[in-house]
Amino acid sequence: KKLIIHTKQKQSDLGDLFGIFFEDLNHAADGGLYAELVQNRSFEFDPIDNKEYHALTAWEKVEHGDSKVNMTVEKEDPLHSNNVHYLSLNVIGTCGRAGVKNLGFNSGIPVKQGNNYLFSFYARTDSDQSKVMTVALESADEKDVHAVQKIEITASKWKRYEVTLTSSETDNSSRLVLTTEQQGNVYIDMVSLFPEKTYKDRHNGLRKDIAEKLEALTPKFMRFPGGCLVHDGSLKEDDRNSMYRWKNTIGNVETRAPRRNNWHYHQTLGLGYYEYFQFCEDIGAKPIPILPAGYDPHHQRIVPIEELKPWIDDALDLIEFATGGSTTEWGAKRMELGHPEPFELEYIGIGNEEVGEPFYERYAYFHKAIKERYPDIKIINSSGPFAAGSEYERGWKSAKENNSDFVDEHYYQSAEWFLANYHRYDDFREGDPKVFLGEYATGGNTYYNALAEAAFMTGLEKNAHAVGLACYAPMLCNVDYVKWDPNLIWFNNHEVYGTPNYYVQKLFMNHQGDYGLNVELKGFKKQKEPKDKPIVGNIKLGSIRNTSHFHDIVVTNKDTGEKKDYKAMTCEGMDHLTLDNIKWGNYELSLKAKKSDGPLGFKIYFGHEDDKNHFIWEIG
Ligand code: AHR
Repeated sequence: KKLIIHTKQKQSDLGDLFGIFFEDLNHAADGGLYAELVQNRSFEFDPIDNKEYHALTAWEKVEHGDSKVNMTVEKEDPLHSNNVHYLSLNVIGTCGRAGVKNLGFNSGIPVKQGNNYLFSFYARTDSDQSKVMTVALESADEKDVHAVQKIEITASKWKRYEVTLTSSETDNSSRLVLTTEQQGNVYIDMVSLFPEKTYKDRHNGLRKDIAEKLEALTPKFMRFPGGCLVHDGSLKEDDRNSMYRWKNTIGNVETRAPRRNNWHYHQTLGLGYYEYFQFCEDIGAKPIPILPAGYDPHHQRIVPIEELKPWIDDALDLIEFATGGSTTEWGAKRMELGHPEPFELEYIGIGNEEVGEPFYERYAYFHKAIKERYPDIKIINSSGPFAAGSEYERGWKSAKENNSDFVDEHYYQSAEWFLANYHRYDDFREGDPKVFLGEYATGGNTYYNALAEAAFMTGLEKNAHAVGLACYAPMLCNVDYVKWDPNLIWFNNHEVYGTPNYYVQKLFMNHQGDYGLNVELKGFKKQKEPKDKPIVGNIKLGSIRNTSHFHDIVVTNKDTGEKKDYKAMTCEGMDHLTLDNIKWGNYELSLKAKKSDGPLGFKIYFGHEDDKNHFIWEIG
């Protein structure tokens, strides 16, 4: 067996080829990269975020001695009109203390012996009489006190109070406990606890260990804030259920209206656009913000063309926010927030996986307006998920018609698919829009998956004339809040781990190839088709997204002529119809599909479900 190297060619310049993609999915932000340790700090959790949630999620009563407390969530005279709920504690009893405790994320609030934690909250009393509150870090059973401080609340108007707590213990399951020995009412909001040490010591900062794991990748860019998170939502800017509107995410945290996160939880937006830009600068990655285009493909919400201007203005204002000077409205805003110098901004993405004509129609308006004012900004068009078939081609057509700089391709496929598609970009032409491979992953975090991704990435490097940007997805996952699997990096409230896929990304980002080697393998035999035609597994049909209805499903064995009819089926989300016991052979599958809600597509799984290497083919 021989490996023969024929030629050695200089690579094209890889530019910004490998970067990262941040989406607040799997509690990547709150309970993840964002260092806030208190869950539901502003009592804004709501069933709209998740039907299990309510304003007191993650909060529990504390009652010692004969003291009792009534906890109610109120709205009158709020801290800010964007942050309408607050907690009212009514303490009764004179021989004890009562109040409330926060449970944090995962097993609780992680504290380390000797480390400092910055506590702050807004509070007011219902009279001019001051109230003393005890702020403590305690073990989950309330038996051990790791740190304690007193705060005197002196005002009947909202006022911010802060103290530093130094923990005497290491405890990953502690609680933040707020109590008082005095009877009467006290009102609290924006209860916050940050480790003193955040990444680069930023105020309202990021968790150091996770941020350093990302920094170690040395990514050339960071795509943010999503994903489906960007376009999933209503068209109203001031709605809790709105699409991701960047202007709602800057300024003092208590003035940022929270948002329903489409991955079924609550998003504080404490990690907002200013923090994203800051983080990109800190890790030396170029920011790639992705903006909604006024079209929600999941729910078919569409901004009429004549009302599109504010959405386009959002894009123009964002560029001004990042790059504008003191005489511009949004540049001045950035300066006021603490960043006098411009942030580097070279790319902007419009839309994420927006399949459908309404998107392409709207994209053209964005593209024209941005290029007119900022000709040097590179604009990324969206091609829809790879699975969407003809829609995907439509994305390329739009990109060519508009002269988009990039087309955002996404694919989640099996390791075999990646290996088989190593040559995917070989025939892509220089001069066409470049590929932004904005999301990709094989189906697992095993060594084998990582190796298949590495093989595929050599194909990206080889075709750097056509592929300009690429990032694995999703990136972060809190082990106790998994909405998507696999992911690049896994963490809990105090530990963080890179997967084999992470180390592949790190290898490629830290050591971009300079030369391509033309290699031939000699002496390997091609595997033969098995003689006994074994059962190779099941074929499963399932909708890719939304609800799909299939009927007249017939599978014909082309070798034997044998036909199998299947009943009509409706599948929602990831439900599937299984066509069992398909033997090795040549098949034809025909079916009719009725579009019932949004884009239609289906997946065919070849191979046994429990076989990690089963092959998935997606069509739309
Ligand atoms: O990466 C997870 C999700 O996959 C993204 O939000 C979306 O763009 C894609 O469908």
